[in-house]
Amino acid sequence: MDKEKILKLTKIHTRKILSNGEPGHDWWHTYRVWRTSLKIAKHEKGVDLFVVQLGALLHDIADWKFHKNEAKSEGAVIRDWLIKMDVEKGVTDKVCRIVESVTFKGAEVKDKVSSKEAAIVQDADRLDALGAIGVARAFGYGGYKNRPMYDSREKIRYHKSFRSYKAAQSKSTVNHFYEKLLLLKARMKTKEGRRLAASRDTFMRLYLNQFFEEWRGKK
Ligand code: ADP
Ligand code: NI
Repeated sequence: MDKEKILKLTKIHTRKILSNGEPGHDWWHTYRVWRTSLKIAKHEKGVDLFVVQLGALLHDIADWKFHKNEAKSEGAVIRDWLIKMDVEKGVTDKVCRIVESVTFKGAEVKDKVSSKEAAIVQDADRLDALGAIGVARAFGYGGYKNRPMYDSREKIRYHKSFRSYKAAQSKSTVNHFYEKLLLLKARMKTKEGRRLAASRDTFMRLYLNQFFEEWRGKK
């Protein structure tokens, strides 16, 4: 099968799987990550666009938050699909490593990126957690989890391991900005990612200032 056909079928496949996802991890999140990955890739040299696109399109089809109790690992789900598409093993391995390295694992856990393609997809995924869309996604996810928007008594935790991050995320959505979202700008891996993150980060800080002023009845 040619690459265009594989990408087209992968889009259809992902769209089907994520069509009922909560608003922060639905098909449209994947769509934006795919578009942003291509945008970042334009600024990098020697990038395999097939690998980037497969990584972007498949990165959330078996996210740990929504598939906690399933027997098959995230990597196995993606591998099965790529085998079905007859994708060569080298590409499949690369895509699986991208998906494995994309996820944020805690404030004090270092990121590992296995390739330039992984850096691009990781930056694109994280950019979608920033800016106007980042704010919308965070409150969408908080609503889905029935969490309070903000609780001034809650302390911010900087997790040292993926296990503790998974086990004890913030109870309030505003705290998620501090345990994760506002840390992302400094962790971008590509030049274009850093540029885009800077303006999205500024917007989010402006948003939070206004939020706190309103919360305290000051504005
Ligand atoms: P990653 O893509 O690094 O695995 P996640 O899927 O955990 O990241 O998170 C993606 C987005 O989901 C976050 O950027 C945020 O918008 C939302 N989200 C995840 N966890 C929380 C939370 N505890 N509170 C609010 N939003 C969250
Ligand atoms: Ni994602």
